[in-house]
Amino acid sequence: SDRQPIIAIDGPAGAGKSTVARQVATQLGLVYLDTGAMYRAVTWLVLQQGIAIDDDCAIAELANKCKIELTPSQDIKFPVRVWINDTDVTQAIRSIEVTSQVSAIAAQAAVRQALVKQQQNWGKRGGLVAEGRDIGTHVFPDAEVKIFLTASVGERARRRQQDFKTQGQPEVSLEQLEKDIAERDWKDSTRKVSPLKKAVDAIELQTDGLSISEVTSKIVDYYQQRLSQW
Ligand code: CDP
Ligand code: CDP
Repeated sequence: SDRQPIIAIDGPAGAGKSTVARQVATQLGLVYLDTGAMYRAVTWLVLQQGIAIDDDCAIAELANKCKIELTPSQDIKFPVRVWINDTDVTQAIRSIEVTSQVSAIAAQAAVRQALVKQQQNWGKRGGLVAEGRDIGTHVFPDAEVKIFLTASVGERARRRQQDFKTQGQPEVSLEQLEKDIAERDWKDSTRKVSPLKKAVDAIELQTDGLSISEVTSKIVDYYQQRLSQW
C-alpha cells in the first residue's frame, strides 16, 4: 500500500510521550497525534454537562456525537490546541478534576470505540507519530515502529512537579503526585478494554536520567535503522 510509516509510542503518565513524540514528529516531518488529549476532552465535556461518571449510556452517546479537533500551535506551553464541539479546551483538559476522572471515562468500551475509530481514520494514510496507551497494541497494530516509554514513578512525579512549576500552577507535593500517578497507572493497566501494555513487538525505553533530546534521538535512530530494512 502507499501508506506512510507510523510510529506508535505508548507508556504510563509522565514517561515523556507527548514531549518526545512531538520532537520526533518535527524531526521526521510526521504529524503528531496526542490521543490522551481526546480522552481528556471527552472527560471535560462529561464534567461540564454534569453527567455522572458511571452513566455509561449518556457518556457513550456524547462520545459518539462530539466533534474533536487537534491543531498545532506556536504556544510552547500548549503546542497542540484541543477543541471539542467548537470550544477551545486546551488548558481546561489539564485540570486536576479532568486528570482525576479521565481514566474512569477512558475505561468505557463505547468511548474507546468512538475515539479509536476517529484515530484510525486520521491515520489511514500514515505519516504520523501517535502517542497514548493502546496505540501499538490496538489503534495501529501494524505500525512500523513501536516504542514503550517508561520511567520510575519517582522520576515521573518529579517531572510533573516541574511541569506545574513551569506553568505557574500551585505546588503539589511529590508524595501526592506519586500517589496520583500510581493510581492512574493501575487503572490504565488493569481495565478490561485495551489496557496499557507493551506490545510484543515494541521496544522498551527506560528514560530515568535521560534527557528529552537523548530519548528523541534514540527513537529517530531506531526509525531510520528500521526504514533502511524495508
Ligand atoms: O499526559 P498523561 O500521561 O498524564 O496522560 P494522557 O496521555 O493525556 O492520557 C490521559 C488518560 O487518558 C490516561 O491516563 C488514560 O486513562 C487515557 N488514555 C487512554 O486510555 N488511551 C490512550 N490511547 C490515551 C490516553
Ligand atoms: O506524555 P507523558 O505524560 O508521557 O509525558 P510528558 O508530558 O511528555 O512529559 C512530562 C514532563 O517530563 C515534561 O515536562 C517533559 O519535558 C519532561 N521530560 C523529561 O524531563 N525528561 C524526559 N526524558 C522526558 C520528559
